[in-house]
Amino acid sequence: LREKFEAELSEVRDSEAIEKIRVAYLGKKGSVTELLKGLKDLTGAEKKEFGQTINLLKREVDEKITAQVEAIRKAEEERLVNSAERYDVTLPADTAYGSYHPITLVQRELEEIFASMGFTIEDYREIVTDYNCFEALNIPKHHPARDMQDTYYLDNGQLLKTHTSAAQNTIMRKYGAPLRAIFPGRCFRNESTDASHENTFFQMEGIMIDKDISISNLIYFMKTMLSKVFKQDVNVRLRPGFFPFVEPGFELDISCHICGGKGCSTCHGSGWIELCPCGMIHPNVLRAGGIDPEEYTGFAFGLGLTRLAMMRYGIKDIRDLNSGNLKTLAQFNHE
Ligand code: PHE
Repeated sequence: LREKFEAELSEVRDSEAIEKIRVAYLGKKGSVTELLKGLKDLTGAEKKEFGQTINLLKREVDEKITAQVEAIRKAEEERLVNSAERYDVTLPADTAYGSYHPITLVQRELEEIFASMGFTIEDYREIVTDYNCFEALNIPKHHPARDMQDTYYLDNGQLLKTHTSAAQNTIMRKYGAPLRAIFPGRCFRNESTDASHENTFFQMEGIMIDKDISISNLIYFMKTMLSKVFKQDVNVRLRPGFFPFVEPGFELDISCHICGGKGCSTCHGSGWIELCPCGMIHPNVLRAGGIDPEEYTGFAFGLGLTRLAMMRYGIKDIRDLNSGNLKTLAQFNHE
């Protein structure tokens, strides 16, 4: 049996074959195992003698198999090292350093500010249902407000999210009230592109829901938050704005961060810059999110991340941001 085993073992070249041999000899019905089972028919001295011999054989078979497995592994490694996959780690690298996208830089900066104010940061999909993008946001089918956003519909009946508000319902359902969350994300609208319009852009939505949240909380919060973003004290003012998912809804302006409100070319002499839409979350939206509007109120705002990145880095053409042109995009990284 030992000779047969050694002959067979010397033939194998891969680990699968070795496993077969192991089963054939040491498995439940293996030859060595059968020998051991045979011991019970023997008597005293015989049993002892054969027992020792068979156990010796068993150990030997076991050790030889282990050694062979190791040998095969070594050979395999050797083959890899000497093949095309070999590379020289000591060669100098001639690749340029990578860089963060300006939108990523602004997004991370904002996330840090919001996290310090107790907000959780939520991720959300880009392909969403009509319900999440519109219906849950108080925009029923055939409502004219749907025309405000030119939507890309997909063959499967879903759509590319047109705004980060599409995540509101899911996040309200996930956490309930009270709630503070931001959700950055990529949005899509079927628009023709020019220097200030793109069909693909980034927003960062924020919601704060609690007992007794009012418009003055909204104003104070936005002022504090935006002063951190622009690294200087900014004033805010609200103008009425219409969005079906907020009531009342506003367009929020900040005092120009370049001239401090005195009037310059950036703010076209007005001292104000239109920054972001916001408002008090509509009771229907809270209700759809499983939150009782009698008990809780809240505000929501939609920051244009793409727009903020352009302001921060003085990027004139929005198309540069989606261009994938590394020469253009890499210059913002060394602040
Ligand atoms: N979702 C709106 C848009 O993209 C912006 C918005 C967000 C308005 C939150 C009000 C409150 O047009």
